Amino acid sequence: MTTTAVLGAGKIGEALLSGLIHAGRNADDLLFTERSEARRVELTKRYGVASVTVAEAAARADVLVVAVKPQDIDPLLTELAPVLRAQTLIVSLCAGLPTALYESRLPEQTPVVRVMPNTPMLVGEAMSAISPGRHATSGHLNTVEEMLASVGQVVRVPESQQDAVTALSGSGPAYFFYLVEAMIDAGILLGLPRAVAGQLIIQSAVGSAKMLAESNEHPVLLREAVTSPAGTTIMAIRELERHGVRAAMLAAIEAARDRSAELGKPHTPRA
Ligand SMILES: NC(=O)c1ccc[n+]([C@@H]2O[C@H](COP(=O)([O-])OP(=O)(O)OC[C@H]3O[C@@H](n4cnc5c(N)ncnc54)[C@H](OP(=O)(O)O)[C@@H]3O)[C@@H](O)[C@H]2O)c1
Repeated sequence: MTTTAVLGAGKIGEALLSGLIHAGRNADDLLFTERSEARRVELTKRYGVASVTVAEAAARADVLVVAVKPQDIDPLLTELAPVLRAQTLIVSLCAGLPTALYESRLPEQTPVVRVMPNTPMLVGEAMSAISPGRHATSGHLNTVEEMLASVGQVVRVPESQQDAVTALSGSGPAYFFYLVEAMIDAGILLGLPRAVAGQLIIQSAVGSAKMLAESNEHPVLLREAVTSPAGTTIMAIRELERHGVRAAMLAAIEAARDRSAELGKPHTPRA
């Protein structure tokens, strides 16, 4: 049985611990590190998982999941490098940090898998994209895929596509929240109470997401099914087109991709 340690159990790290436990992983096979004493006590109480130091995690775990903020990575790698055991699998959840950074700072041959998860991991509905580093085998990818499948869906992509993934599914939940917020505002504009507008839109979002996930139909067909000739929906669609909403979406996601690439640059070791 593998032992997995989460290094930095903040929002995403906790979501992973919680998901693994809900999926039936034994709390005794899990460990975590955290800087604050209060947070350590809170998480152990909530999940029955032991907190350890980074050195203890390196000594006991076969898989180390790095879930600190990208700006906190330097001191963590400095602490980890001298204590890491050969063949320990490093799984990085950190946005923008390339596998080459870990490979340049950790002992030679260290297998690294880079992951871009998203916040719906908190409710077991994450979309995670995984990419192997130079020394990660298909066995390592299988291990990571199996772990993340307990908190959502997983796809494999080449690391060169991770900036695009970050812009699409990493930031994606924010676009949906933004859209829901705007639609609730429209309900207010039309005179509905906020609570009613919220319920109407949130349940419509949940229902639409379920149809997209379960029907296997292209979104265009699902939209056409509610767009009758000279009806109400087509009037709204005309306004969306007139205001360039589709073009805005393309430009927005391209801008997010560019920013992701820019943020990763300082962490990319020179060849
Ligand atoms: N949230 C998202 O939507 C999202 C999506 C995809 C990927 N990610 C990635 O997930 C990572 C974590 O994000 P988050 O939102 O979960 O951040 P977070 O809530 O700030 O969690 C990071 C945690 O790690 C702790 N920490 C930092 N350095 C440590 C060290 N050396 N040893 C032990 N613990 C340490 C922090 O403690 P302190 O509070 O004391 O600093 C904090 O509790 C980031 O790299 C981010 O790019 C996040």
